[in-house]
Amino acid sequence: MKKTLTPAELRQELASDKPPLVIDVRRVDDHEGGPEGIPGADWRAPTLLEDWAGGIPEGADVVVYCVRGGGVSQGVQTVLAKRGVAARYLEGGLAAWAADEALERDPDLELLRTQGVGDKGLRHALQVARVALWLAAGLDGAKAGPVDAEVLRRGALLHDLGKVRDTGNLHGVVGAELGRGLGLPEAVLGCIEKHVRHGVPLDQAEALGLPRRDFSFTRLEERLVSYADKIADILAAGLAEGPADAHARLPEILAAHPALAKDDATKARYLESRGLLEGHA
Ligand SMILES: [Fe+2]
Repeated sequence: MKKTLTPAELRQELASDKPPLVIDVRRVDDHEGGPEGIPGADWRAPTLLEDWAGGIPEGADVVVYCVRGGGVSQGVQTVLAKRGVAARYLEGGLAAWAADEALERDPDLELLRTQGVGDKGLRHALQVARVALWLAAGLDGAKAGPVDAEVLRRGALLHDLGKVRDTGNLHGVVGAELGRGLGLPEAVLGCIEKHVRHGVPLDQAEALGLPRRDFSFTRLEERLVSYADKIADILAAGLAEGPADAHARLPEILAAHPALAKDDATKARYLESRGLLEGHA
């Protein structure tokens, strides 16, 4: 059994006929001074785990969470698993849950809607944003460099803006033009413009029908958005169990499904990014 689940996966499971038993295991101070927990979750002090663990109903499917999905909930998960309880901890904790909820109400979704993006496009935008935020949360900041969370979120949500006008290789360029007209920040426009074929260098642009420009990534957020787009495609195709699985098995998945890799040069760029975006793999 998997040891973790993402906020989006938890949301889905909570809406199913067999919702898991969610337990808030934040430390006393974090619980009392912090935000409301996940609706329906009971709070149990992690320090008193030995007292309450025995009261968990037999066969229960348990999800524990703390503030950020760090040592507290991981420690509780480990102890429960040793006692034979089917327990997982929430990746990123309550902070990631709240960020995910905010994403569903993000004004950029309304912007996409008013530009003519349909439900399928909106779902894809949300999925790419979720994966991008998940990737960023797992990065080693010292190695990968800082991530601008707003640029990342907006770039991910809006990356396919151009698809309302062009569904081919030009949709990145077209989307950036549209976005410029809407007053979007340059850093977000870069994410939109460069995501197609994962940062095409100058010498390959014309052959792909792009303007003769260098579309190589210059910001980490651009790379993350485009990489998250590929992970989202893999998930949508049912080829992986979750983002961690897709990220870990990217080389074999791209080798087995050439249509996802597009061409050898693009595939090489994805694999290079996978190495640069180590963390969850
Ligand atoms: Fe796209």
